Amino acid sequence: MLFRGWGESVDGPWTDAATVVDHVGVPHLVVTRHALVRRLLTDPETFRPDNALDAVTPIPVAALRVLAGHRFRLPPTLANNASASHPEIRAIVAEALHPDRVAAQQPWLTGLVRERVTRLAAALAAGEPVDLYAGLAADLPLLVLARLVELPDAPVGAVKDFARAALELFWAPLDETRQLTLAAEVGRFHTVLRAFATTGGGLAARLRAAGHSPDVVVGALFFLLVAGQETTSQFLTLLLHRLAGEPAVRAGLRAGDIPVADVVEEGLRLEPPIVTWRRVAAVDTTVGDVEVPAGTSIVAWLARAGRDPAVVAAPGEFRPGQRGSRRHLAFGAGPHRCVGAQLARMEAAVVVAEAAPLLDGVTVVRPPWCPDNLTFRMPDAFVVRRT
Ligand code: HEM
Repeated sequence: MLFRGWGESVDGPWTDAATVVDHVGVPHLVVTRHALVRRLLTDPETFRPDNALDAVTPIPVAALRVLAGHRFRLPPTLANNASASHPEIRAIVAEALHPDRVAAQQPWLTGLVRERVTRLAAALAAGEPVDLYAGLAADLPLLVLARLVELPDAPVGAVKDFARAALELFWAPLDETRQLTLAAEVGRFHTVLRAFATTGGGLAARLRAAGHSPDVVVGALFFLLVAGQETTSQFLTLLLHRLAGEPAVRAGLRAGDIPVADVVEEGLRLEPPIVTWRRVAAVDTTVGDVEVPAGTSIVAWLARAGRDPAVVAAPGEFRPGQRGSRRHLAFGAGPHRCVGAQLARMEAAVVVAEAAPLLDGVTVVRPPWCPDNLTFRMPDAFVVRRT
């Protein structure tokens, strides 16, 4: 289950909290119930976020050397920062992603998505297969992020490759050869970020002006470029795939009976792109009935918490607006709750509203395939064709 926390494993039998030993022999306490997951995410004194970005496959010396060659460092900045600097760094990032600034991007994004949908609809009408990941979802969140936060001037493809390499290097079960390749990819882009951190404007400049070191600026940009776009393009792909199999929901959208926002929330609950998130026990404690010594790695199974029958009326069914639908923990909870939630929701709402009609009368030629990963789904493609 540990590296495939979706699909069958998310619905199979499981206890509230159980220890699972990973591929390198490290035990993790996997927590499934909504109330327990919520408790550990919202109590940073007992459950610290320090291990959020730790590599789940320890990085061997050879790959560490490659990273060091690029002066790679990831000091605590956002997700893994329990220190006093966290609220201030978070506030600066949150300002860049303020709901008003996010809302201001909606008309532009709608125009862009409409253009793409028109092109994709023409291809479908001509009987061609279309990949809704590559042709619609993959780069949209990065394009929006670049309008909100000044980013290094790098080709979209290079940023996507770097971000996916980072998700694999830190969260996948890997062998040494792959780790070396990924370390080179991640290190190369880290050099670009390091240069930008000292000269870039916008968010980078604001962090510098607040007295944060270049390492902190790089760390914040690194996390934003990974978490702030890859997650959402994965979510858009997974949600469209889900909607392809939910004709009644699409009919409700078309008729205006089902609000787009409800579809997005139900999508986050049932198809979260981030299926688990980690904390580490700061003191000896208990989770449910389990005694947890200080230092234990805790895996909050967010995807499973979203299907807790104690919270949701019909946990496995895609019923927008049902009781408990909005109580998912796809964005985490507490002081580290996702600062980009509003942005992700806006992007998903635009894509659902504009692109769901593309799914009428299509068959799925190639569903998204997701590689083994502790946390991220990373779908690779989603190909449909008109029947
Ligand atoms: C569907 C898309 C997304 C999902 C499912 C998601 C999910 C998450 C989760 C689970 C966390 C950890 C929360 C915790 O520890 O309690 C997180 C943190 C974070 N996310 Fe997102 N995220 C998404 C999109 C975004 C976007 C679009 C941005 C910014 C552009 C973003 C920026 C961040 C940041 C900066 C943090 C760290 C916050 C902190 O530690 O204070 N995320 N996200």
